[in-house]
Amino acid sequence: MTLLFWFAVYAVILSAALARAGYRSGAMAAESNPCERPARILIVGATGGTGRQLVEQGLARGYAVTALARNPSALQIDHPQLTVIQGDVLDYGSVETAMRGQQAVVCALGHKRFFYPTRILSAGTSNILRAMEAQQVPRLICETSLGIGDSAGRMGLYYTLFTLPVILPFYFWDKTRQERAIAASRVDWVIIRPGALKNAAKQGGLRHGCGVGNFLSTVSISRADVADFMLEQLESNTYLGTAPGVSW
Ligand SMILES: NC(=O)c1ccc[n+]([C@@H]2O[C@H](COP(=O)([O-])OP(=O)(O)OC[C@H]3O[C@@H](n4cnc5c(N)ncnc54)[C@H](OP(=O)(O)O)[C@@H]3O)[C@@H](O)[C@H]2O)c1
Repeated sequence: MTLLFWFAVYAVILSAALARAGYRSGAMAAESNPCERPARILIVGATGGTGRQLVEQGLARGYAVTALARNPSALQIDHPQLTVIQGDVLDYGSVETAMRGQQAVVCALGHKRFFYPTRILSAGTSNILRAMEAQQVPRLICETSLGIGDSAGRMGLYYTLFTLPVILPFYFWDKTRQERAIAASRVDWVIIRPGALKNAAKQGGLRHGCGVGNFLSTVSISRADVADFMLEQLESNTYLGTAPGVSW
């Protein structure tokens, strides 16, 4: 019983720390506010679940897509408008090479090294931001997660009391650094915070904004719908400089 009590205290303190350390958006614009459409976009994390959707949907939307991939053969998408550049987001040189000529970046970076401290998300994103500033690429759309900053607790009780404190404390702590790096940068940015991700078809009719998520139950969304929402942010200023949640 005592152990359970102290575990619950630890879980609550962790959520409070994620709330403080992550980006806090404040008020968000509610009206649609279009902007100039980029022609060429760089996708980071292109071989992942969301990233693959970003590549396929980005090509279908008519963008010239460059994918940065550690293992290009893993992408297995062949399209005349797709360029795949072999590189690691932790290697600044390969990020800057991929950045040349781009007009926007969409980032769905993630990894599975959950159980020890890492800086892959924050260091990788810092390299992206540095290369964007060097190459004068104006806009970054980046996927993080509900449960950080002003969305703390909104992944539901199961995540707040089990998944985050037991499996993902280091991972989410790095996500707070990632969000802070983005918010401190000089580029135009939107942080997208989805609920639990599913490999399901695009459904549409999404909930988005600062009130998304639930303190009791876990909200979810497909990677296909997240990718669609992220690509929409390339052509809208509605959420510029904010971190909307997104879910079904
Ligand atoms: N799972 C959930 O329920 C959930 C919920 C909310 C938010 N999220 C977040 O959403 C994001 C996307 O998740 P996902 O499951 O769709 O993605 P994922 O399948 O985990 O893919 C992550 C991508 O990042 C790439 N990557 C990792 N390290 C890299 C490096 N050093 N250089 C270049 N690329 C690198 C991976 O490349 P390789 O193929 O080479 O590994 C892969 O393409 C993650 O940040 C995740 O934490 C997940």
